[in-house]
Amino acid sequence: MNNNKITSHTPPAIELKGLSKTYRATKKAPAKIALKGIDLTIPRGSFFGLLGPNGAGKSTMINILAGLVTKTGGTAAICGYDIENETRQARASIGVVPQEISMDVYFTPWQALENQAGYYGVPKSERRTDEILAALGLADKRDAYVRQLSGGMKRRLLVAKALVHNPTVLILDEPTAGVDIELRRQLWEYVQDLHKNGTTVILTTHYLEEAEALCDQIAIIHNGEITANEKKETLLKRLDQKTLIITPDTPLSTIPEALRKLESTLRPDGTLSISYRTGNTSIMDLLDQVKAANITIADLRTEEPDLEDVFMALTYNRDS
Ligand SMILES: Nc1ncnc2c1ncn2[C@@H]1O[C@H](COP(=O)(O)OP(=O)(O)O)[C@@H](O)[C@H]1O
Ligand SMILES: [Mg+2]
Repeated sequence: MNNNKITSHTPPAIELKGLSKTYRATKKAPAKIALKGIDLTIPRGSFFGLLGPNGAGKSTMINILAGLVTKTGGTAAICGYDIENETRQARASIGVVPQEISMDVYFTPWQALENQAGYYGVPKSERRTDEILAALGLADKRDAYVRQLSGGMKRRLLVAKALVHNPTVLILDEPTAGVDIELRRQLWEYVQDLHKNGTTVILTTHYLEEAEALCDQIAIIHNGEITANEKKETLLKRLDQKTLIITPDTPLSTIPEALRKLESTLRPDGTLSISYRTGNTSIMDLLDQVKAANITIADLRTEEPDLEDVFMALTYNRDS
């Protein structure tokens, strides 16, 4: 249950030590190592982003915490409760919004929440079913059948279900995949309110922009390993690499002397590419240098690394 008073003795929201998962081989597929001994601490009260490409291991990690997948090795604790030895308390401390929408469509939203509250042993007098439905904009669907709800409404109902026991930690596994912009905005507003009121929020996503907009700390997971775990600002500083591509009015055969101190290369098509960091270089300054080198610019554009490049770079550079 939610206890928002955080002291130096308060255990972290999540603490993983050497957490590993290998999915066993089946007739159709070989064994798959999904998590390779993950160490990760998620502080209480944070809005934490777990960012990684598809197949990185995000859902595996979340599903182990939710008790839906059994770990192969290592330990996991939620608010100090070991998921293996203190399962009941660990379960009571988190609410998980799963990535896949799967629900019993023969219930109404009201019944679905009541069932969930019953499952968690929330006494009738402490249930907030109507309040939660209203908060997620489902009050007027209270008694409709779940099968009649739109995809966005089902998604909101999943969030509502995760909240019935007032969990200390709320985990959302790619909640905005396939969700329209308006719903996304509403969902984030509501989750941000919960966070302001002390709930630790953990969000998995493969969108950098989403993690960037919401989270105060971001860990990157790639191929079952954590390759970065930093305050958002620190991480973004490492991701500020851009490339300026200049098409000169006459193709270049060599890089002018004056530009050699820059990270510049000549591409086969005669364009000049200059890598720079937005944190310490202004594009106007670069353009001035290009003009000073007597290059007439016919066209220009910038390229940003895509997330896959970033994941690769961080994976490759993490020990350096
Ligand atoms: N039930 C499963 N059986 C076998 N392999 C699985 C299963 N679930 C996930 N995997 C594999 O484990 C890896 C991690 O998957 P997942 O945790 O779903 O990643 P993410 O959520 O980051 O996209 C992937 O290679 C995926 O194919
Ligand atoms: Mg996933």
